[in-house]
Amino acid sequence: MARAALVTGASRGIGLAVARALAADGAAVCVTARGADGLAEAVRRLGPHAIACPGDIADPAHLEEAVSRTLAEFGRLDVLVNNAATNAPLGPLMAADPLDWRTAFTVNVEAPLRLVQAAWRGWMREHGGAVVNICTEGTHDVGPGLGAYGTTKTALLRLTRQLAAELAPAVRVNAVSPGLVRTEMARFVWERDEPAIAATLPLARIGEPEDVARAVRWLVSAEASWITGADLVVDGGRRVRSAYRPRSAPPT
Ligand SMILES: NC(=O)c1ccc[n+]([C@@H]2O[C@H](COP(=O)([O-])OP(=O)(O)OC[C@H]3O[C@@H](n4cnc5c(N)ncnc54)[C@H](OP(=O)(O)O)[C@@H]3O)[C@@H](O)[C@H]2O)c1
Repeated sequence: MARAALVTGASRGIGLAVARALAADGAAVCVTARGADGLAEAVRRLGPHAIACPGDIADPAHLEEAVSRTLAEFGRLDVLVNNAATNAPLGPLMAADPLDWRTAFTVNVEAPLRLVQAAWRGWMREHGGAVVNICTEGTHDVGPGLGAYGTTKTALLRLTRQLAAELAPAVRVNAVSPGLVRTEMARFVWERDEPAIAATLPLARIGEPEDVARAVRWLVSAEASWITGADLVVDGGRRVRSAYRPRSAPPT
Protein backbone atom coordinates (compact mmCIF):
# COMPACT_ATOMS: atom_id res chain seq x y z
CA MET A 1 0.00 0.00 0.00
CA ALA A 2 1.09 3.62 -0.62
CA ARG A 3 2.68 5.65 2.16
CA ALA A 4 0.49 7.42 4.70
CA ALA A 5 1.26 10.90 6.02
CA LEU A 6 -0.01 13.12 8.82
CA VAL A 7 0.36 16.87 8.28
CA THR A 8 -0.64 19.32 11.01
CA GLY A 9 -2.02 22.75 10.14
CA ALA A 10 -2.90 21.77 6.60
CA SER A 11 -6.11 23.69 5.89
CA ARG A 12 -4.12 26.43 4.15
CA GLY A 13 -0.65 27.83 3.56
CA ILE A 14 2.46 25.69 3.75
CA GLY A 15 0.71 22.72 5.37
CA LEU A 16 -1.87 22.46 2.59
CA ALA A 17 0.87 22.73 -0.05
CA VAL A 18 2.81 19.94 1.70
CA ALA A 19 -0.28 17.74 1.88
CA ARG A 20 -0.93 18.34 -1.83
CA ALA A 21 2.67 17.48 -2.75
CA LEU A 22 2.59 14.25 -0.73
CA ALA A 23 -0.81 13.30 -2.16
CA ALA A 24 0.53 13.96 -5.67
CA ASP A 25 3.27 11.43 -4.89
CA GLY A 26 0.55 8.90 -4.07
CA ALA A 27 0.47 9.18 -0.28
CA ALA A 28 -2.71 8.91 1.73
CA VAL A 29 -2.90 12.00 3.91
CA CYS A 30 -4.49 12.92 7.23
CA VAL A 31 -4.65 16.68 7.73
CA THR A 32 -5.36 18.69 10.86
CA ALA A 33 -6.36 22.25 11.78
CA ARG A 34 -8.69 23.87 14.31
CA GLY A 35 -11.19 25.22 11.80
CA ALA A 36 -13.33 22.30 10.61
CA ASP A 37 -14.74 24.13 7.56
CA GLY A 38 -11.36 25.07 6.11
CA LEU A 39 -10.14 21.56 6.77
CA ALA A 40 -13.13 19.98 5.01
CA GLU A 41 -12.44 22.15 1.96
CA ALA A 42 -8.76 21.09 2.04
CA VAL A 43 -9.75 17.42 2.11
CA ARG A 44 -12.04 17.99 -0.85
CA ARG A 45 -9.12 19.48 -2.77
CA LEU A 46 -6.74 16.69 -1.71
CA GLY A 47 -8.90 13.96 -3.19
CA PRO A 48 -10.18 10.54 -2.18
CA HIS A 49 -7.16 9.42 -0.14
CA ALA A 50 -7.34 12.27 2.37
CA ILE A 51 -9.05 12.51 5.73
CA ALA A 52 -9.49 15.35 8.21
CA CYS A 53 -8.87 15.31 11.92
CA PRO A 54 -9.98 18.71 13.25
CA GLY A 55 -8.58 19.89 16.54
CA ASP A 56 -6.07 22.05 18.38
CA ILE A 57 -2.54 20.67 18.60
CA ALA A 58 -2.31 22.21 22.05
CA ASP A 59 -4.69 19.44 23.15
CA PRO A 60 -2.81 16.17 23.84
CA ALA A 61 -5.97 14.12 23.29
CA HIS A 62 -6.31 15.57 19.79
CA LEU A 63 -2.73 14.53 18.97
CA GLU A 64 -3.39 10.95 20.07
CA GLU A 65 -6.57 10.97 18.02
CA ALA A 66 -4.79 12.28 14.90
CA VAL A 67 -2.28 9.43 15.02
CA SER A 68 -4.80 6.74 15.87
CA ARG A 69 -7.21 7.90 13.14
CA THR A 70 -4.41 7.86 10.57
CA LEU A 71 -3.48 4.32 11.58
CA ALA A 72 -7.10 3.18 11.69
CA GLU A 73 -7.91 4.66 8.28
CA PHE A 74 -4.72 3.89 6.35
CA GLY A 75 -3.12 1.09 8.38
CA ARG A 76 0.24 2.87 8.53
CA LEU A 77 1.99 6.18 9.26
CA ASP A 78 5.18 6.71 7.29
CA VAL A 79 5.49 10.49 7.24
CA LEU A 80 4.81 13.08 9.94
CA VAL A 81 5.04 16.78 9.14
CA ASN A 82 4.87 19.05 12.20
CA ASN A 83 3.74 22.23 10.48
CA ALA A 84 1.06 23.94 12.61
CA ALA A 85 2.44 26.70 14.81
CA THR A 86 1.69 30.00 16.48
CA ASN A 87 3.64 33.24 16.25
CA ALA A 88 1.90 34.65 19.35
CA PRO A 89 2.60 36.44 21.59
CA LEU A 90 4.10 39.11 19.32
CA GLY A 91 5.77 42.12 20.90
CA PRO A 92 8.48 42.87 23.43
CA LEU A 93 9.21 40.09 25.89
CA MET A 94 8.77 42.38 28.92
CA ALA A 95 5.13 42.77 27.87
CA ALA A 96 4.57 39.06 27.23
CA ASP A 97 2.07 37.21 29.40
CA PRO A 98 3.89 34.10 30.67
CA LEU A 99 0.77 32.03 30.03
CA ASP A 100 0.83 33.02 26.34
CA TRP A 101 4.53 32.15 26.32
CA ARG A 102 3.67 28.74 27.75
CA THR A 103 1.04 28.22 25.05
CA ALA A 104 3.62 29.05 22.39
CA PHE A 105 5.86 26.29 23.75
CA THR A 106 2.92 23.90 23.99
CA VAL A 107 1.97 24.43 20.34
CA ASN A 108 5.40 24.85 18.75
CA VAL A 109 7.53 22.41 20.74
CA GLU A 110 5.51 20.10 22.98
CA ALA A 111 2.94 19.14 20.34
CA PRO A 112 5.57 18.08 17.77
CA LEU A 113 7.26 15.92 20.42
CA ARG A 114 3.96 14.35 21.46
CA LEU A 115 3.15 13.54 17.83
CA VAL A 116 6.54 11.98 17.21
CA GLN A 117 6.11 9.89 20.36
CA ALA A 118 2.67 8.70 19.26
CA ALA A 119 3.83 7.98 15.71
CA TRP A 120 6.88 6.12 17.05
CA ARG A 121 4.82 3.93 19.35
CA GLY A 122 2.05 3.32 16.83
CA TRP A 123 4.09 2.61 13.70
CA MET A 124 7.53 4.09 13.15
CA ARG A 125 9.50 2.21 15.82
CA GLU A 126 8.71 -1.06 14.06
CA HIS A 127 8.37 0.04 10.44
CA GLY A 128 10.47 3.20 10.11
CA GLY A 129 9.43 6.58 8.82
CA ALA A 130 10.35 10.19 8.18
CA VAL A 131 9.54 13.30 10.21
CA VAL A 132 9.89 16.92 9.11
CA ASN A 133 9.53 19.77 11.57
CA ILE A 134 8.81 23.16 10.04
CA CYS A 135 11.08 25.66 11.80
CA THR A 136 12.04 29.09 10.46
CA GLU A 137 14.98 30.74 8.76
CA GLY A 138 14.84 33.21 11.64
CA THR A 139 16.25 30.81 14.25
CA HIS A 140 19.76 32.13 13.55
CA ASP A 141 18.83 35.72 14.16
CA VAL A 142 16.69 37.93 16.36
CA GLY A 143 13.76 39.95 15.11
CA PRO A 144 11.67 42.73 16.65
CA GLY A 145 8.66 41.38 18.51
CA LEU A 146 9.42 37.76 17.63
CA GLY A 147 10.93 36.62 20.93
CA ALA A 148 8.43 33.88 21.73
CA TYR A 149 8.23 32.62 18.15
CA GLY A 150 11.99 32.62 17.61
CA THR A 151 12.71 30.97 20.93
CA THR A 152 10.18 28.19 20.43
CA LYS A 153 11.31 27.54 16.86
CA THR A 154 14.93 27.39 17.98
CA ALA A 155 13.85 24.83 20.56
CA LEU A 156 12.07 22.89 17.81
CA LEU A 157 15.24 22.86 15.73
CA ARG A 158 17.18 21.54 18.72
CA LEU A 159 14.47 18.95 19.31
CA THR A 160 14.76 17.91 15.66
CA ARG A 161 18.45 17.14 16.04
CA GLN A 162 17.97 15.28 19.30
CA LEU A 163 15.19 13.16 17.82
CA ALA A 164 17.26 12.48 14.71
CA ALA A 165 19.94 10.92 16.88
CA GLU A 166 17.60 9.06 19.21
CA LEU A 167 15.33 7.58 16.53
CA ALA A 168 18.01 6.55 14.01
CA PRO A 169 18.27 4.42 12.02
CA ALA A 170 14.55 3.61 11.89
CA VAL A 171 13.26 7.14 11.57
CA ARG A 172 14.81 10.15 9.86
CA VAL A 173 14.02 13.51 11.46
CA ASN A 174 14.80 16.75 9.65
CA ALA A 175 13.84 20.41 9.71
CA VAL A 176 12.76 22.68 6.90
CA SER A 177 13.28 26.35 7.69
CA PRO A 178 11.33 28.74 5.48
CA GLY A 179 12.05 32.39 4.96
CA LEU A 180 9.21 34.77 4.24
CA VAL A 181 6.36 32.88 2.53
CA ARG A 182 3.09 34.22 1.14
CA THR A 183 0.67 32.85 3.78
CA GLU A 184 -1.83 34.20 6.28
CA MET A 185 0.59 33.85 9.19
CA ALA A 186 3.12 36.15 7.56
CA ARG A 187 0.67 38.50 5.82
CA PHE A 188 1.43 41.27 8.32
CA VAL A 189 5.02 41.22 7.05
CA TRP A 190 4.80 40.77 3.27
CA GLU A 191 1.61 42.71 2.60
CA ARG A 192 3.18 45.96 3.79
CA ASP A 193 5.73 46.24 1.02
CA GLU A 194 6.35 43.08 -0.93
CA PRO A 195 8.39 44.64 -3.78
CA ALA A 196 10.81 46.26 -1.33
CA ILE A 197 11.22 43.01 0.62
CA ALA A 198 11.71 41.00 -2.59
CA ALA A 199 14.40 43.43 -3.69
CA THR A 200 16.49 42.53 -0.62
CA LEU A 201 16.44 38.81 -1.42
CA PRO A 202 19.09 37.22 -3.63
CA LEU A 203 16.41 35.18 -5.40
CA ALA A 204 14.34 38.35 -5.86
CA ARG A 205 10.93 37.23 -4.59
CA ILE A 206 9.20 36.10 -1.43
CA GLY A 207 8.41 32.41 -1.11
CA GLU A 208 5.30 30.54 -2.14
CA PRO A 209 3.97 27.64 -0.04
CA GLU A 210 4.93 25.27 -2.88
CA ASP A 211 8.61 26.27 -2.54
CA VAL A 212 8.58 24.86 0.98
CA ALA A 213 6.40 21.88 0.06
CA ARG A 214 8.91 20.71 -2.57
CA ALA A 215 11.66 20.67 0.07
CA VAL A 216 9.53 18.64 2.46
CA ARG A 217 8.49 16.24 -0.29
CA TRP A 218 12.14 15.59 -1.13
CA LEU A 219 13.27 15.19 2.47
CA VAL A 220 10.68 12.50 3.18
CA SER A 221 11.43 10.65 -0.06
CA ALA A 222 13.89 7.83 -0.66
CA GLU A 223 16.08 10.41 -2.45
CA ALA A 224 17.01 11.73 1.02
CA SER A 225 17.51 8.32 2.65
CA TRP A 226 20.95 9.23 4.06
CA ILE A 227 19.89 12.56 5.52
CA THR A 228 18.83 13.01 9.12
CA GLY A 229 19.22 15.84 11.62
CA ALA A 230 19.50 18.36 8.78
CA ASP A 231 18.00 21.83 8.57
CA LEU A 232 17.05 22.61 4.97
CA VAL A 233 16.76 26.39 4.68
CA VAL A 234 14.29 27.50 2.01
CA ASP A 235 14.52 31.27 2.10
CA GLY A 236 15.33 32.70 -1.31
CA GLY A 237 18.83 33.42 -0.04
CA ARG A 238 17.80 35.62 2.88
CA ARG A 239 20.50 34.21 5.14
CA VAL A 240 23.23 35.24 2.70
CA ARG A 241 21.73 38.58 1.75
CA SER A 242 24.38 40.63 3.55
CA ALA A 243 26.73 39.84 0.65
CA TYR A 244 24.07 40.29 -2.03
CA ARG A 245 24.20 43.25 -4.38
CA PRO A 246 21.43 43.64 -6.96
CA ARG A 247 22.98 43.64 -10.47
CA SER A 248 21.86 47.21 -11.05
CA ALA A 249 23.70 48.38 -7.91
CA PRO A 250 27.31 49.58 -8.24
CA PRO A 251 29.89 47.24 -6.68
CA THR A 252 31.08 48.32 -3.23
N1 LIG B 1 4.77 32.02 6.27
C1 LIG B 1 6.03 32.25 6.60
O1 LIG B 1 6.64 33.26 6.16
C2 LIG B 1 6.76 31.29 7.49
C3 LIG B 1 8.13 31.51 7.69
C4 LIG B 1 8.84 30.65 8.50
C5 LIG B 1 8.19 29.56 9.07
N2 LIG B 1 6.84 29.36 8.87
C6 LIG B 1 6.23 28.20 9.50
O2 LIG B 1 5.47 27.48 8.54
C7 LIG B 1 4.42 26.78 9.21
C8 LIG B 1 3.09 27.01 8.51
O3 LIG B 1 2.78 28.38 8.59
P1 LIG B 1 1.93 29.13 7.48
O4 LIG B 1 2.67 30.36 7.18
O5 LIG B 1 1.54 28.20 6.39
O6 LIG B 1 0.66 29.55 8.36
P2 LIG B 1 -0.89 29.70 7.98
O7 LIG B 1 -1.08 29.98 6.54
O8 LIG B 1 -1.43 30.66 8.98
O9 LIG B 1 -1.46 28.24 8.26
C9 LIG B 1 -1.39 27.68 9.54
C10 LIG B 1 -2.15 26.38 9.56
O10 LIG B 1 -2.02 25.80 10.86
C11 LIG B 1 -3.33 25.67 11.46
N3 LIG B 1 -3.15 25.91 12.89
C12 LIG B 1 -2.73 27.05 13.50
N4 LIG B 1 -2.70 26.88 14.82
C13 LIG B 1 -3.10 25.61 15.07
C14 LIG B 1 -3.30 24.84 16.23
N5 LIG B 1 -3.07 25.34 17.46
N6 LIG B 1 -3.74 23.56 16.12
C15 LIG B 1 -3.98 23.04 14.89
N7 LIG B 1 -3.81 23.71 13.75
C16 LIG B 1 -3.38 24.98 13.84
C17 LIG B 1 -4.20 26.68 10.73
O11 LIG B 1 -5.59 26.36 10.72
P3 LIG B 1 -6.57 26.85 11.92
O12 LIG B 1 -6.29 28.32 12.14
O13 LIG B 1 -7.94 26.56 11.41
O14 LIG B 1 -6.20 26.03 13.09
C18 LIG B 1 -3.64 26.54 9.32
O15 LIG B 1 -4.12 25.37 8.70
C19 LIG B 1 4.47 27.24 10.67
O16 LIG B 1 5.20 26.31 11.42
C20 LIG B 1 5.24 28.53 10.60
O17 LIG B 1 5.88 28.86 11.80
C21 LIG B 1 6.13 30.21 8.09
